[in-house]
Amino acid sequence: MAYPYVSDREVRVISRHFGDPAARRLDTYVERGGYQALRKAFELGPDAVIDEVKASGLRGRGGAGFPTGVKWSFMPKQPTRPHYLLCNADESEPGTFKDRELIRWDPHQLLEGVLISAFAIRAGHAYIYCRGEFFETTQVLARALEDAYAGGYAGRDILGSGFDIDVTIHVGAGAYICGEETGLMNSLEGQRGQPRVKPPFPAAVGAFGMPSTVNNVETLATVPHIVTHGGAWYRGYGTEKSPGTKLFCVSGHVNRPGNYELPLGFPMMDLIEDVCGGIRDGHALKAVIPGGSSVPLLNAEECSRCTLDYEGVVAAGSMLGCASVIVMDETTDIVKQVRRMVQFYAHESCGQCTPCREGTAWMTKVLRRIEDGRGTEEDLDTLLDMSHQMTGTTICVLSDSAAAPVVSSIHKFKDEYLALIRRGERVGVA
Ligand SMILES: Cc1cc2nc3c(=O)[nH]c(=O)nc-3n(C[C@H](O)[C@H](O)[C@H](O)COP(=O)(O)O)c2cc1C
Ligand code: SF4
Repeated sequence: MAYPYVSDREVRVISRHFGDPAARRLDTYVERGGYQALRKAFELGPDAVIDEVKASGLRGRGGAGFPTGVKWSFMPKQPTRPHYLLCNADESEPGTFKDRELIRWDPHQLLEGVLISAFAIRAGHAYIYCRGEFFETTQVLARALEDAYAGGYAGRDILGSGFDIDVTIHVGAGAYICGEETGLMNSLEGQRGQPRVKPPFPAAVGAFGMPSTVNNVETLATVPHIVTHGGAWYRGYGTEKSPGTKLFCVSGHVNRPGNYELPLGFPMMDLIEDVCGGIRDGHALKAVIPGGSSVPLLNAEECSRCTLDYEGVVAAGSMLGCASVIVMDETTDIVKQVRRMVQFYAHESCGQCTPCREGTAWMTKVLRRIEDGRGTEEDLDTLLDMSHQMTGTTICVLSDSAAAPVVSSIHKFKDEYLALIRRGERVGVA
């Protein structure tokens, strides 16, 4: 099979049609059993759908891993005000490229997930918030949505169920912070995309001041399969606490980078060496960022004992996040890599919180100084001190995310920092 690379160790549930352009069409989707899960959801009723998703143990794929069915159950059961479902298709985390592929290859799978989930939380309107740069992706989705309306799968009294739902695609302007759920809501409302202080949480006061649930694309694309096959079936994959399959976006120094759908709990080294064909040009592994740029780095020894599930990655010393695995071989300049990530966060900080706004900019300067051979050993203490002040002190966790790779790289790759600092001393740079 062609999709850039496919491994026989994959369990392809949500990615099974990747690489097949025919899967985008409504007729093909329906022929293959599409929209049957939606019919089943109408038979089950909203509460039974929530129970099935709870039973599956599905955890949100946007990064935090919060149980989806539990999140849905926070929504009021007897709506007295409009409810909204917000599908987060902002996908801007460095190293992440799964949601765009889910939409591009199988847009009806996502739409069916959106419709079922909206029904479960008693929402009358769903918004799909797409990252501004996703031009082709958004076009494919818009075409599919038009077909879904024409086919009677969206709009009034869908499939004769009495359920009315409107779905709107909203295109952002390309700001990373609009992927944070409350920043997304502000942006959707036409305000600056700045995160809100929580509480209140979205299930109480969300978009337009109404109860809302925000879910990631991958989370919602999984829902039709759970409704079709049941929560127990989903639990047949993965581990007890991290059930199911997950898309891993692998980038960096491997021979076969790409998206791979694997059961959670898969060994990290099997992913790198077997699924991805090993490190390029026979080099040795140096470090991995397992969950997008917002999580601590793992060194090669930690990778050797890391399983790819929420608990396994924490035990190894990092976080699964959205499972974007950035692989770095021995030729990687860790200080440069970390500086580039922190610079990204400095650029994307919305500026509301002083530790984030000032800290990310200041850290970038200090890291640049070290990179250029003008740093001192005290700079490392300054970086650790700043990281401490930037963690747990701000409205959203962008600030924590910027600090995580700095702290972990100083602890795990201190020699690289010291080598740059001492090289500077040798050439007489203050
Ligand atoms: C700075 C920042 C950026 C985020 N970007 C995204 C994103 O692009 N896509 C996404 O699904 N979640 C993103 N999140 C997480 C969302 O706030 C939210 O937790 C998620 O969409 C919930 O969906 P889930 O429960 O299905 O995981 C981001 C969080 C932060 C703090
Ligand atoms: S932590 Fe940073 S990005 Fe998040 S709200 Fe504060 S300033 Fe904005």
